[in-house]
Amino acid sequence: MAVIKYHSGAEIDGMRRAGRLAADCLVMISEHIRPGITTDELDRIVAEYTTSRHARSAPLGYNGFPKSCCTSVNDVVCHGIPGARVLKDGDIINVDVTPVLPRANGFHGDTSATFYVGEPSPQARHVVEVARQCLEIGIDAANRRNARIGDIGAAIQAYAEAQSCTVVRAYCGHGIGRVFHSEPSVPHHGVPGSGDKLKRGMCFTIEPMINLGDWRCHELDDGWTAVTTDGSLSAQFEHTLAVTKRGVEVLTARSAVLQNSEEKPWAQLGPLACFIP
Ligand code: MF3
Ligand code: CO
Ligand code: CO
Repeated sequence: MAVIKYHSGAEIDGMRRAGRLAADCLVMISEHIRPGITTDELDRIVAEYTTSRHARSAPLGYNGFPKSCCTSVNDVVCHGIPGARVLKDGDIINVDVTPVLPRANGFHGDTSATFYVGEPSPQARHVVEVARQCLEIGIDAANRRNARIGDIGAAIQAYAEAQSCTVVRAYCGHGIGRVFHSEPSVPHHGVPGSGDKLKRGMCFTIEPMINLGDWRCHELDDGWTAVTTDGSLSAQFEHTLAVTKRGVEVLTARSAVLQNSEEKPWAQLGPLACFIP
């Protein structure tokens, strides 16, 4: 069993740089989402941007993953592999980027958002907006005195289910740092008061996958693509966070609003740090 890594101030500075690059990359790619573009083209743009910023895409070659980002369309829950698929009006797509900065000691920034391709259906809008809110609720639950990992999932699950959506269980948030995926695992469902206590120096992601139908999903034969078993729509948002002495800091907070996302400007342009009230 791996142990949780507690990052020093200097290490969190490295995580801030990686997080900022991940956020910039997501804003950049959001401008390219439109009907007619293929997921391969989005991948190539992410790959070129990442290289141009002297970074490497962590997904490329990760346990054999063949591309530089994940593109998960409609009923794809996560780990969609970019390819020849052409986006069409009414689709939803999650783009998940994870640059690593060798010049900042190999720290990772991991962030994703779900975008509207053209005009969304009411159902698509519902699941996407619930997922967006679930990430905010998860961050709020973490940003409390004596918060535990289980508080995050409990808050997310309560909200999602009150909105008639369900929470994927097979994939969780994760510790992150010089390693892409580490302890602790951060479930998006669960019991308040359970799990490890949040402590200064911890860095982890919250990345709820929210389904319109049943929570179950399964992996396709490609060994990566996870789809909802009932074929219902699934949406996801992800941020990388650090626990600092002032509270939980959103390392992948954006300095501009995402395009094709109906993101509220005030949600993104605020301070990078949250503060424990
Ligand atoms: N970025 C994903 C996450 O949020 C992981 C992708 S792993 C890959 O944890 F290999 F599929 F890229
Ligand atoms: Co992640
Ligand atoms: Co990710």
